[in-house]
Amino acid sequence: MTAARLVVTPLHPVFAAEVSGVDFTSSLDRGTVAELIAAMDRYAVCAYRPGRPMPNQAHIALGQALGPIDTTPVFAIAGRKRSRLPAELNDVANIDENDEVMKEGSRVILFRRGDRLWHTDMSFHPKRAVYSLLSAHEIPPEGGDTEFADLRAAYDALAPSTKAEIEDLVAVHSIWHSRAEAGFPEPTAEEIASRPSARHRLVQRHPGSGRKTLYLASHASHIEGWPTDQGRVLLRELKEFATQSRFVYRHSWRLGDVVIWDNRCTMHRGTPYEDTRYRRDMRRATTREPAVAS
Ligand code: OGA
Ligand code: MN
Repeated sequence: MTAARLVVTPLHPVFAAEVSGVDFTSSLDRGTVAELIAAMDRYAVCAYRPGRPMPNQAHIALGQALGPIDTTPVFAIAGRKRSRLPAELNDVANIDENDEVMKEGSRVILFRRGDRLWHTDMSFHPKRAVYSLLSAHEIPPEGGDTEFADLRAAYDALAPSTKAEIEDLVAVHSIWHSRAEAGFPEPTAEEIASRPSARHRLVQRHPGSGRKTLYLASHASHIEGWPTDQGRVLLRELKEFATQSRFVYRHSWRLGDVVIWDNRCTMHRGTPYEDTRYRRDMRRATTREPAVAS
């Protein structure tokens, strides 16, 4: 029997593809993993749509095939009880430990609403996220799409003068900055202490493709060495440029979808849904950089 080949079907003119032809719930051979990573390097966002939710253990195994998963908690949210999922999965659902939809005012719901700002996962950490694999276990009847922006295509389209201006800049990223922007209440001392800020170059070379990319996120609060306001204006302008519709793919979830994205060269954001009325059970495996990027 010959090994199944990954079928890669583009979903957008510049990036994002659907992957099929391989059963991702069984363990993948090295050739298939290499094909998937090649598809990720080319398309940055790959959607797998088997039509039924992926079991947690298969989801974790798929993540681990793509890179190391670190189970150390990366920040604290006061009052959150993490008991629904294994430590390898991030719980990004609106469902509490009693299996009920969270209530308005819940600190976790307010925190999750920060995902509606354009961001890339874990830019607030020195060891950034590489791949995120988001799996849909329950989806609301309306709303709750996820949008993705291609930061390599956006970089390519910048004016040469802008490229020269930003080439050597470093942005400072903090989870508490993006949460404040999204209306999260004043963080507690324990929350702040649980995750200090991190610094990352604004222009990076994407390792797998060799292409240059912007590295932006709602977590980016200012530019190192620049007056805060001036840095914020630049970051806002770049974010607006990079999220024009020509660089954006919008994913409308079907039950069971697993969308994998490369955090090093994309941004994403959740779109609104009635999050204190409808259940949305999304679970995320996240691979991490092996070493601190400078
Ligand atoms: C995430 C995220 C957005 C969404 O899981 O990292 O930002 O639409 N999710 O759930
Ligand atoms: Mn995210």
